[in-house]
Amino acid sequence: MAAPVDKIPVELIEILRTSHRVVVLTGAGISAESGVPTFRQAQTGLWAQFDPLQLATPGAFQNDPKLVWDWYSWRRKLISESQPNPGHNALVDLENHYPEFTLITQNVDGLHQMAGSTQVIELHGNIFRTKCSRENRLISGKIQTAETPPFCPNCGANLRPDVVWFGESLPEDELDQALGAVSTCQVFISIGTSTLVEPAAALPFIALRNGAMVLEINPQITPLTPQASYSVQGNAGDLLPILAVQVTSS
Ligand code: OAD
Repeated sequence: MAAPVDKIPVELIEILRTSHRVVVLTGAGISAESGVPTFRQAQTGLWAQFDPLQLATPGAFQNDPKLVWDWYSWRRKLISESQPNPGHNALVDLENHYPEFTLITQNVDGLHQMAGSTQVIELHGNIFRTKCSRENRLISGKIQTAETPPFCPNCGANLRPDVVWFGESLPEDELDQALGAVSTCQVFISIGTSTLVEPAAALPFIALRNGAMVLEINPQITPLTPQASYSVQGNAGDLLPILAVQVTSS
């Protein structure tokens, strides 16, 4: 088995070293080594009987708001026990290295920000934010009530997590920002995503069409693999620290 460092072609490092405008897209895979199950990994314990694709929908929340709220509370607790891993930390080093660096994530776990990334575009929201299901307004501060789900202090409707559910559109500003960054980047790095869910899955292909060099980091192959400029198979936590050291060392 080649050591991770052998997996990164020398000419790739040279391209990364001499680029200025870099966009990174991350998926659940970058949080896997922090112990956060990827989206399509089987659920554990009480929630093993439920399919996330069935729970993360407006219909599921309409039918059983308590079930969906409790599922997110369980995921919040799981994630709050997790820490950023070396893959997250390496992306902070890359952000500090490049004049123009944009980190687009599909993850809702907030681990990039916890690691110190500042230019983070959360395409699918953030599990630790709560909003009114009717007014769509974020609720700040700790929610005092014991009801599950709690009610909006303003209008009395159910509160919900500020995450994008299947069938819902992505936050417009975040999507516009992401598309803007992808349209002018020289390098696009796709990390730990199955490249299955639109519109995030289209981003690397837009970058390719715009002439960017596209690198994929994933232990598995994905629909992007055949078209990526480079595809390095391995774990983000192993590969990104090596890549960051080689790119940022003068
Ligand atoms: P998936 O669970 O679909 O895919 C996770 C990817 O991470 C897979 O391709 C794995 O091979 C890869 N992977 C696993 N461990 C890894 C590691 N250590 N290092 C690098 N890669 C690793 O998760 P996403 O692609 O993020 O959307 O899913 C995208 C969206 O689909 C999610 O944001 C969610 C779901 O529908 C919403 O909730 C709206």
